[in-house]
Amino acid sequence: MAGGARPGVACEGLYGRRVPVQTRRVTQAAITVRLARPRDAEAIAVVHDAAWREAYRGIIPGRELEQMVQRRGPSWWRTVLERGGRIAVLDFDDAVRGYISYGRNRLTVSPYRGEIFELYVAPECQGLGFGRRLFTAARRDLSGNRIPGLLVWALADNDRACQFYRHLGGIKVREREEHFGAEVRARHAFGWV
Ligand SMILES: CC(C)(COP(=O)(O)OP(=O)(O)OC[C@H]1O[C@@H](n2cnc3c(N)ncnc32)[C@H](O)[C@@H]1OP(=O)(O)O)[C@@H](O)C(=O)NCCC(=O)NCCS
Repeated sequence: MAGGARPGVACEGLYGRRVPVQTRRVTQAAITVRLARPRDAEAIAVVHDAAWREAYRGIIPGRELEQMVQRRGPSWWRTVLERGGRIAVLDFDDAVRGYISYGRNRLTVSPYRGEIFELYVAPECQGLGFGRRLFTAARRDLSGNRIPGLLVWALADNDRACQFYRHLGGIKVREREEHFGAEVRARHAFGWV
């Protein structure tokens, strides 16, 4: 990955438009955010595996974390994509480096009609602006489909994610508990109207 100061590169939006974008420390490479296809299942599973282990080690008990990661292999993702699950991926340097899955809010909590179910960037690519790009693309896609407002849940102990969502303007609107085996963790919901 090359380094440098905010040059412009071309980025393909979810609707296939190529638009100039500014990069942060990434240069001379195409960054693309696009809707995932079933053939992306394996690459998404790789990002999921690495990002979950890195993000949740020490937060989710080890055995439960391992089971959660194992359940989400390529065939699990292929099935989700074949059933029409809305997932966008970010390609950089010809590989998938992050994904976001989103859709209608499962709890139908007004005014947050949309929900981000998952947002994960490969550990070695975090801090490069990829998370913001994926978030923005999903938000645009939802509002373009007349699904206003957005909610995302994050484990309260996942400081990085909570600070990222706050930085993007999210406001903590709900709290609940989640059980991992015998252990309980707090989960916070951030909302955007
Ligand atoms: C959380 C995550 C998605 C953020 O993506 P990222 O690519 O690392 O973040 P970005 O580089 O796009 O950051 C976007 C903005 O948020 C800011 N930001 C990111 N993390 C931050 C933090 N911990 N505290 C404060 N600001 C933060 C950045 O400075 C940047 O600001 P700017 O665009 O105004 O300059 C990513 O780090 C990740 O996948 N983490 C592990 C998995 C995870 O926790 N996912 C969320 C589960 S709910």
